[in-house]
Amino acid sequence: MKKIWIIHNSMHGNSEKISQQLAEGLKDSYDVSVDSIKNISPEDIAKDEPYGLIIAVRIVAFGSDKEIRKFTNNLDKAITKPISKVAYFSTHALGWKKFFIKGMKKTLEKIGCVEEVCPEYLEVKMQGPEGPAVEGADAKIENFISTLKEFMK
Ligand SMILES: Cc1cc2nc3c(=O)[nH]c(=O)nc-3n(C[C@H](O)[C@H](O)[C@H](O)COP(=O)(O)O)c2cc1C
Repeated sequence: MKKIWIIHNSMHGNSEKISQQLAEGLKDSYDVSVDSIKNISPEDIAKDEPYGLIIAVRIVAFGSDKEIRKFTNNLDKAITKPISKVAYFSTHALGWKKFFIKGMKKTLEKIGCVEEVCPEYLEVKMQGPEGPAVEGADAKIENFISTLKEFMK
C-alpha cells in the first residue's frame, strides 16, 4: 500500500479530529499515518518516502499557522524522493476568507519536494476556537475524502 502522511499542529483538537476522519476514510486504500508536528521531525516523514502528504492548517491571526509552514519548509530540506501528491485543509472559527490560506499556498509553491498539489482544499468552520465544527461539517469532510481518493489515484 502507498504511504500517506497526515500532519497537524492541533492545539484545541479540531484539526487533529479531522485528520483522523480523513485517515479513517483513506485507510482501506493507503497506509496512513497521522501525527502532530510536535511529536515528529521532517526526517521521520522523509524516511518513509511517502507517496502522499495531507497538511492540516489551523488559522491563527488571519493567516496559516506559521509553525506548520516552517515544518513544511524543513520537510523540503529533508526529503530525498519528491512527494507525488500533496493536499491541505484548514480549520477556522471566523467567516472563511481565501487569504487565510495564502501563506500555506505560497509555501507549497516555493518548495521543491512536491510534484502535485490538490487544486481543491477543505475548510471547516468551528463554532468557537475549541470547536465543535458547525453543522454540515461531516458531509463536507466526506466529500473531501472522495476528492482525495480521486486526487491520490
Ligand atoms: C490565538 C488564536 C487565533 C485565532 N485566529 C483566528 C483567525 O484569525 N481566524 C479564524 O477564522 N480563526 C482563528 N482562530 C480559530 C482557530 O483557527 C480554530 O479554533 C482552529 O480550529 C484551531 O485548530 P486546532 O483545534 O486544531 O488547534 C484562532 C484561534 C486561536 C487560539
